[in-house]
Amino acid sequence: MKVGRVTLSDRASAGVYADRSGPEIGRVLGELYAGPLEWVVRLMPDERPAIAQALRELCDVEGCELVVTTGGTGPSPRDVTPEATREVIERELPGFGEVMRMQSFAKVPTAILSRATAGTRGGSLIVNLPGNPRAIGECLPLVMPAILEALRHLRGE
Ligand code: MTE
Repeated sequence: MKVGRVTLSDRASAGVYADRSGPEIGRVLGELYAGPLEWVVRLMPDERPAIAQALRELCDVEGCELVVTTGGTGPSPRDVTPEATREVIERELPGFGEVMRMQSFAKVPTAILSRATAGTRGGSLIVNLPGNPRAIGECLPLVMPAILEALRHLRGE
């Protein structure tokens, strides 16, 4: 499966600190998915037009079946990942964000600050995750069965 992995962080993309969330997506998805994974990786600042453009490219040009973003889902002024995602998806799947918030809230009371969403664009599924590297392992396993089922639907199986 070809997977796009997009880290949205002003500071990581400027080299202020290393991107730990993107590689964590690689690690966690590699454990959860049985088949081989081909990665297309992006590390970008929190700029809405550029994020929307990258998501379009990963879906339409690279042909990624799955695109996972991390970061930029919170309430601060620079957090624009859900807006960029809604700009490019054709159908929103709000349950992804709802489950991540609900299930994480029991352990992490600040989980409700994430506005993460998901949706489909053509044959691709885009899923937002929060930016905290720990959140990847807390959220991705929760939605993995739904990711696999959504991909089967998108393939017309
Ligand atoms: N969800 C989980 N599971 N674990 C976390 O550590 N951090 C929260 C929330 N969701 C967190 C989480 C916090 S503190 C914020 S501000 C929001 O995700 C948004 O984070 P982001 O802007 O880096 O995407």
